[in-house]
Amino acid sequence: MKAHIVTLPGDGVGPEVTAAAVAVLEAVAARYGHEFSFDEQAIGGCAIDAFGEPLPAAALAACKQADAVLLGAVGGPKWSDPNAPVRPEQGLLALRAALGVYANLRPLQVHPALAALSPLKNEKLKNVDVLFVRELTGGAYFGAKTRTADTATDECKYTVAEVERVVRRAFDLARDRHRHVTSVDKANVLETSRLWRSTVQRIAADYPDVKVEHQLVDSMAMLLLTQPSRYDVVVTENLFGDILTDEAAALAGSLGLLPSASLGEGRNGLYEPIHGSAPDIAGQNVANPTGAILSAAMLLRHSLQLEAEAAAIEAAVDQVLSQGPHTRDIGGQASTTQLRDAVLAAFEEHADTAEAFFSGARACG
Ligand code: IPM
Ligand code: MG
Repeated sequence: MKAHIVTLPGDGVGPEVTAAAVAVLEAVAARYGHEFSFDEQAIGGCAIDAFGEPLPAAALAACKQADAVLLGAVGGPKWSDPNAPVRPEQGLLALRAALGVYANLRPLQVHPALAALSPLKNEKLKNVDVLFVRELTGGAYFGAKTRTADTATDECKYTVAEVERVVRRAFDLARDRHRHVTSVDKANVLETSRLWRSTVQRIAADYPDVKVEHQLVDSMAMLLLTQPSRYDVVVTENLFGDILTDEAAALAGSLGLLPSASLGEGRNGLYEPIHGSAPDIAGQNVANPTGAILSAAMLLRHSLQLEAEAAAIEAAVDQVLSQGPHTRDIGGQASTTQLRDAVLAAFEEHADTAEAFFSGARACG
């Protein structure tokens, strides 16, 4: 198939991890006979430096035309003055809103070879397999803001339609998993949460085969640490999802491991590792590219419907996490490019085995 992918490497380690993910996508294209074209555009702090704005119009237009968008990371100390007129993160938020990617999927699994790196005891980490579905284009992130010398406000607003579409997405995803949805809110205090909860209760009636549970966000923050293996799909609003997914990422052993996919109604999606720009290690070829590479796998699955290719990358990553080499954040010495090369080698090996298997099957009739 032909696909046009816009890359937005961004700031800090973003360019390094994005390059690794692109190398993997190129290997997929070569191996499976696809034609992927790549167009690199600017976002974040580097776009502010070059164009005076965090999401230049040309970058946004390119993203809207693309089949999928692969992003590295945005932000850094250079642009984080609280009084700065523009911030790198505004580019990312504007992009999410403009692409209408309201459902942010953040899968969490704990690789057995890395369980020792997790702050939790190993026995708690068995069978952890959670899919967070974070609402991404509403709530306090996008509400009106006011500021005077001594007062500031951030409006948190949700409509039923905004809640309904992301909650339905979570229920649909649960049907392909363990059919258990946990909805997280703060319905004992917040009006938006009461609207959220009653919407979930109404939608749940359409999914009698899916079990539903409601948790308050403070309690959920604790339960994620005490019983992480109890959860399947966890759906929540934007700010709660931001916080809970960083907490969840710590369980996996490193923030560098986890991917995400942000989806709307169409096929176009925005794919990014959940880690930030990590300015302290930028430009040193030591960042872990796993989150970016797994985001590329999600891109293949969700935007291009290439499930076999996505699974082949995930199997290659799984092998490298089992056997090494490992980057520093997961206890090794390998560089970004060494880990990338190991994933590429494992990918070719799996593809060879799969090919031999299928040609053997054909030969057998
Ligand atoms: C994330 C990040 C972003 C967010 C920042 C960079 C705006 O933390 O994707 O989780 O808060 O959504
Ligand atoms: Mg975050």
